[in-house]
Amino acid sequence: MNHFARRMSSLQASEIREILKLTRRPEVISFAGGLPAPELFPSDELRAVADQVLRHEPGLALQYSPTEGDPLLRHALARHMNRRLGCRVSEDEILITTGSQQGLDLTGKVFLDEGDVVLCESPTYIGAIQAFTAYGPRFVEVPTDDEGMLIPELVRLLSSHRRIRLAYVVPDFQNPTGRSWSSSRRMAFMQLMWRHGIPVVEDCPYGQVAFDGPAHRPLKALDRCDQLLFLGTFSKILCPGLRIGWVAGPRHTLERYVLAKQGSDLHTSSLDQRLVARFLERGRLGANLSAICDTYRERRDAMLGALDATMPPGVRWTRPGGGLFVWLELPPGADARDLLLRCLEHDVAFVPGGSFFPNGGHDNTLRLNFSNMPCERIVEGVRRISAVLHESLTELAHGSAAALA
Ligand SMILES: Cc1ncc(COP(=O)(O)O)c(C=O)c1O
Repeated sequence: MNHFARRMSSLQASEIREILKLTRRPEVISFAGGLPAPELFPSDELRAVADQVLRHEPGLALQYSPTEGDPLLRHALARHMNRRLGCRVSEDEILITTGSQQGLDLTGKVFLDEGDVVLCESPTYIGAIQAFTAYGPRFVEVPTDDEGMLIPELVRLLSSHRRIRLAYVVPDFQNPTGRSWSSSRRMAFMQLMWRHGIPVVEDCPYGQVAFDGPAHRPLKALDRCDQLLFLGTFSKILCPGLRIGWVAGPRHTLERYVLAKQGSDLHTSSLDQRLVARFLERGRLGANLSAICDTYRERRDAMLGALDATMPPGVRWTRPGGGLFVWLELPPGADARDLLLRCLEHDVAFVPGGSFFPNGGHDNTLRLNFSNMPCERIVEGVRRISAVLHESLTELAHGSAAALA
């Protein structure tokens, strides 16, 4: 007998995740995870901050704290968003979350009933698909190109779907494609959302991880109608293990998020929030971010150079100006899952792209991460994938020729 809630049947263990467990062996060159470079975690600075916090304010840092978050951190984040991101946010418009992944889960809890429609980019972040799926929505994927959502397609989908409850977007150095929206697409998208009264969830973990000049301002900085929720996180600009993220949005909506969060975890770790607040107070975030961008830029360049030098004809890939990922499209008929199985025999791994499309398909796509491996391993890993791909595409071509004969 099945004792579990119906929603559990829609949540399936990913076969790919199981396969990728094999990639933890140290000899494997893994482009699979979305892991930051651990050598850039500011562990000495954090050790000093932890010592300061535990010595001078243990009563606060180790105690229960308000669901909304540590006032010191909310204040620092409002300043950060206003000064660095060009927004106009006050500290009571900020809720601290346990990573932005919790922001996504709370978004599902607050907004989605079964059968509601979520508009999203095609492809989109797999963790958002997972978080929202528990609440039973339908996903409507908006086709994209190098500049963001295709606006005529978006207009058509808006007129042909009812019950659109929210739009979920990652406009900066997206996971999985690494692409960023152009200014004109940002404005056209926001205007359509205002016109249709659709709340927007802007997920922005990578906006500041920009290699080639200043990043775009977030959609939040354009918002005139108070219908946008911005999800931020320290995972990619400090370290993911502390699990500190935030939601910035209108007060009346955040009140609902606070109620939803109370039922989940009462509040995010008081100690971790205080550590981040005191770290920010030391003014070290900017230097940390520069080191991250310098290292990832080199790694991005190593990956693009290796792809340019070795990939067979017919394969296309993105050229991200920031973030952690490059996205590949193989010729039609190629299957990235098969390619992964073959690549694992050569100790190199990536994520097949199909899982980033909530309605399936696109088996000829894949995502490569470049932040977590040194340049030499990146070059060697791409060389191995290219060699296996040359072989597979030759077989595919022979297979098609035989079928036509
Ligand atoms: C687009 C996107 N949103 C959210 C998250 C979750 O991040 P966090 O570590 O803050 O929970 C990630 C993590 O990779 C991501 O890529």
